[in-house]
Amino acid sequence: MKLCLPKGTKDILPDQIHLWQKAERVFAEVCEQYGFSEIRIPTFEHTDVFERGVGNATDVVRKEMYTFEDKGGRSITLRPEGTAGVVRSFIENGMGSLPSPVKLFYNITAFRYEKMQKGRYREFHQFGVEAFGSSGPEIDAEIISLLCTFFERVGIAQTRLCINSIGCPACRPTYHVALKDYFADKVSDMCEDCKARYDINPQRMIDCKEERCKPFVANAPRQIEYLCSDCRTHLSGLEKCLSSLDIKYKIDPSIVRGLDYYTRTVFEFVSDHVGTQGTICGGGRYDRLVETMGGPSVPGIGFAMGVERFLMEAASQGVSLAERVPVNLCLVHMSESAYDQVFRLAHRLRRAGIACEVDLMGRSFRAQMKYANKLGIPYMMVIGDDEIASGMAKIKRMIDGIEVEVRLDDLPEQASIFMNESTKEN
Ligand code: HAM
Repeated sequence: MKLCLPKGTKDILPDQIHLWQKAERVFAEVCEQYGFSEIRIPTFEHTDVFERGVGNATDVVRKEMYTFEDKGGRSITLRPEGTAGVVRSFIENGMGSLPSPVKLFYNITAFRYEKMQKGRYREFHQFGVEAFGSSGPEIDAEIISLLCTFFERVGIAQTRLCINSIGCPACRPTYHVALKDYFADKVSDMCEDCKARYDINPQRMIDCKEERCKPFVANAPRQIEYLCSDCRTHLSGLEKCLSSLDIKYKIDPSIVRGLDYYTRTVFEFVSDHVGTQGTICGGGRYDRLVETMGGPSVPGIGFAMGVERFLMEAASQGVSLAERVPVNLCLVHMSESAYDQVFRLAHRLRRAGIACEVDLMGRSFRAQMKYANKLGIPYMMVIGDDEIASGMAKIKRMIDGIEVEVRLDDLPEQASIFMNESTKEN
């Protein structure tokens, strides 16, 4: 049988990797400028972490997790998202005693057994942040502003920001009663999942993607109409902060998010270019999650951005994340006897930080030149017996043939001066 990729996964090939690396670098840079520190968490956790963290009533936990028993009989799950694992780590490492807020960012792979669609994979990547300890709307605005800065820094026009409030344990019970009243005479015509959600958590019915449920969901009451005064104050505080930062947003009462831990603020950045759901990034506040998972009573807020969806958006906006060709100089040898010298020169150049290539395929002189051209290497240096005898060689800029003669003994310094200066001139 021919070996192939599992459905929903992909290779990121060398001709795409620079896009990923640039996005990763800029995201880390922006997070650090906002005072976030990187955290790395395991790819798998005990299944409980997600059952308790993400919530048993969510589609993610009920249908999409990659769960298996390990050889020690433990139930293990590949992380379907980052928040639950970060909260587990926050608690386990006693980060509650650090100065607040504790601000963390991550760059992870996540795994969900979902139906394949444009922009939807079974293994995908997320850039995310989680901030613990601050309950005011300012931090909600800060992480939204971090995202806007990231989009601006990589050069994509801001995608649409939609915000909503999904209330708190004080106002949610009244809303659930309203939802149950509304759905009471409709639930028998809805999907099996909604029938279960009606009893476990009717709020999840709002998130149903089944065609037969959509007409019922469209007219259902929205949490925003049932907010308590604290939740209202929080939402208007966030609006005030966003306006003062000049961040455009829309209140969208239909945003409920697919995970159970959210309280109050939820938000999404959406676009028309990334598949049917259009969400590049989603997040919100989770003021009860740390406690629910066995930690102290510490509020939290975060987001995660789908990196594949972000790159689709960048491509559709014609944004180039391309970086400079990494290899600058090709050392071409003209004879067997020069090869040994070329090999040693390359070693010296690389140790001095100059990216260069030498032949590793036994190519002829002409074939080496052709290869360097094909790779688009901007500078070339030919070494033959004459160059070895005189200790001098020429570095040529391929775009216009400008050359400079350098002493082989002074090579790393002289090569880098010529290449830096002529690159600037260009
Ligand atoms: P989420 O909305 O489930 O939230 O996922 C965040 C983002 O990950 C989505 O907006 C989307 O871009 C991307 N994503 C999700 N599923 C897939 C998939 N199957 N294929 C490709 N991309 C996908 C969370 O994960 C929360 N942990 C976010 C959060 C952090 N909330 C608070 N803190």
